[in-house]
Amino acid sequence: MVEMVVAEDAARRMDTMYRYQRHIYDLTRKFYLLGRDRLLTRLPIKPGASVLEMGCGTGRNLVKLGHMVPDARLHGVDVAGVMIDTAARALDRAGLAHRVRLAQAGGQGFDPETAFGLARFDVIYFSYVLSMIPDWRPVVDRALEQLAPGGILAVVDFGDQQRAPRWRRRLLLGWLRLFDVHPRAEIERDLRTLAAGQDGLALDENLFDGYAYLLMIRKA
Ligand SMILES: C[S@@+](CC[C@H](N)C(=O)[O-])C[C@H]1O[C@@H](n2cnc3c(N)ncnc32)[C@H](O)[C@@H]1O
Repeated sequence: MVEMVVAEDAARRMDTMYRYQRHIYDLTRKFYLLGRDRLLTRLPIKPGASVLEMGCGTGRNLVKLGHMVPDARLHGVDVAGVMIDTAARALDRAGLAHRVRLAQAGGQGFDPETAFGLARFDVIYFSYVLSMIPDWRPVVDRALEQLAPGGILAVVDFGDQQRAPRWRRRLLLGWLRLFDVHPRAEIERDLRTLAAGQDGLALDENLFDGYAYLLMIRKA
């Protein structure tokens, strides 16, 4: 199936990229994956809610969220096996291994029933993931299908950098290309269109003068 091919290709690329980088990932990314903590504090998580981070990486967000919302049911999925391995260790160190469930899967073919025995989530969030996925739209469509009615799909990611000085924009985009990250204005634009076809935006924030955006779509 095409979805499996896409996921296998993504798994290979991400495993290769992160095999060694994952050891310095949290240390280095805190300087430019901005707005992640803001996303976490804004997520409307009710007691007992089921929450999924798609593309959870090293588990940095899940560890924070695990301490913030002790009665939520947390799940993390990543296409890279090496990242899932690192996330599992981080959650274990934080004493959260029993509360956060992990699975290796690509967002393209992820099936919550197979992975976690769950039909729906109340909240699904993507933190600096969509700009890494060439064909991101089917991944978001699939996530929307996996949300309960009234559920929240949240995204924090790079903005279009149009307000940054040209030298800074070129430097940042060149740096991100090294890591297969490709910020595209159409992602944010299409997410807004998608929200209009649902129950609209529950949150709409421009972070650091266009450096990043934080959107929350409420499912109809
Ligand atoms: C820039 S990292 C962000 C990690 C984490 N969300 C954070 O905020 O620190 C992007 C993550 O997305 C994962 N990823 C890339 N493509 C994916 C896909 N198609 N499905 C699921 N995860 C994917 C990568 O393996 C990587 O761990």
